[in-house]
Formats: sequence, structure tokens, C-alpha cells
Amino acid sequence: MLLRQSSIVAAAAIVITIWSVSAVAGTPSGCTDLDGFAPQQAVDFESRIQPIFSNCAGCHGENGSAGLDLRPGEAYANLVGIVSTTNPPQARVQPFEPGDSLLLSAVNCDITGGPSFQMPGTDPAQRALIRDWIAQGALARPAPRSIPVMSPIGLGILAVLVMLMPFVWRLQRVRSRL
Ligand code: HEC
Repeated sequence: MLLRQSSIVAAAAIVITIWSVSAVAGTPSGCTDLDGFAPQQAVDFESRIQPIFSNCAGCHGENGSAGLDLRPGEAYANLVGIVSTTNPPQARVQPFEPGDSLLLSAVNCDITGGPSFQMPGTDPAQRALIRDWIAQGALARPAPRSIPVMSPIGLGILAVLVMLMPFVWRLQRVRSRL
């Protein structure tokens, strides 16, 4: 009897632990867990996101379903910062906020939070790319790499050269007078 009770307690503890860990991981229920896909750097919309939408164009072309046009040249302006038609005032794509962007839940979740069914035509790796693109600010083009910062040693050498310059000039003037 005691054994049975304690095993029930143990089972409950395991269930609660798993539940709380999955809650921390932040994957809403009904959505595919994308945490296994390491974030990709500098995801380019034109070369990596737009091609995914070729699977959507049958329904999301000119005058597409839910007023969403995902054809090349149209998709970006139809997504970023645009209020969704199926779940206003949520944005289709909220830059930096994949979890708040209807595009991601529409392709990645059973309960989409907007459209009445999960959008067909993406695999989890493609959804993770959409996640990364949004998390990086949903840019039309990836930000250029930051200008390399000079090392402290390089800066020191530069400072010494600048300080020596007047002496070099003076030396030259003395020389030219000779
Ligand atoms: C078979 C047709 C079909 C395909 C294929 C399809 N969709 Fe949809 N999509 C719809 C319909 C219909 C709706 C509106 C559903 C509703 O009104 O509940 C919709 C709604 C949406 C919405 C919500 C738009 C809003 O403003 O609320 C998004 C985002 C979306 N689709 C993205 C996609 C993406 C991305 C793909 C391709 C990976 C895709 N869809 C493929 C038919 C489709």
C-alpha cells in the first residue's frame, strides 16, 4: 500500500517536472518544438525565406487567402509590421518577436492562434529559419557585418605615430634648409 502511494507520488513528481521544463522551454502546446534547431546567423530574406513561400503561392498569390500575398516582390511588404486579418491586432511579423508573429504560429502550430488550420508546405528546419529571420529583426537584407574594431595594440601604435608626426615634419624642414 505504502509502496503504491509512493510510486504515485514519484510518477506525479516526474510529470510535474517534465511539464515545468517544457513550460520553461517556451514551446506553446500544439506547436512543434524548434529548440533543437540552432539559430542561424544573418538569415537573408531573399535567398532563404522567400523560396519557402513557393509552397504557399497556390493559395497566397494575387488576392490570396486572408488577403496575404506571398509572391516574390510582394511577400515582404505583406508581412513585416502588417496587422493580421485572422487575428487582429496581432502582426503577421513582429520584428525581433517570433513568438508574437502570426506567420510562425500559422506554419508551426496546430492551434495557430489565427488561421483556422495549420498552413501546409513547411518542414521544421524551414520554420526554424523563419524564427531566426524574425528574431534578427525581419530585415529585407541582413545587417552588414560590424566594422572590425581596432585592437588596443593597433590603437597604441597609431597614437604614437600621430604624436611623432610634428617631429617628423620639423626634421624634414630642417633637412630641406640644409
Ligand atoms: C491550401 C491553401 C493554403 C496554403 C497552401 C497555404 N495557406 Fe496560408 N491561409 C490559407 C487560408 C484559407 C487562410 C485563412 C484561414 C482563415 O481564414 O482562418 C490562410 C491564412 C494564412 C495566414 C494568416 C494571415 C493573416 O493575416 O491572418 C498566414 C500567416 C498564412 N496563411 C501563411 C501561409 C504560409 C507561410 C504558407 C506556406 C508555407 C501558407 N499559408 C500556405 C490557405 C493556405
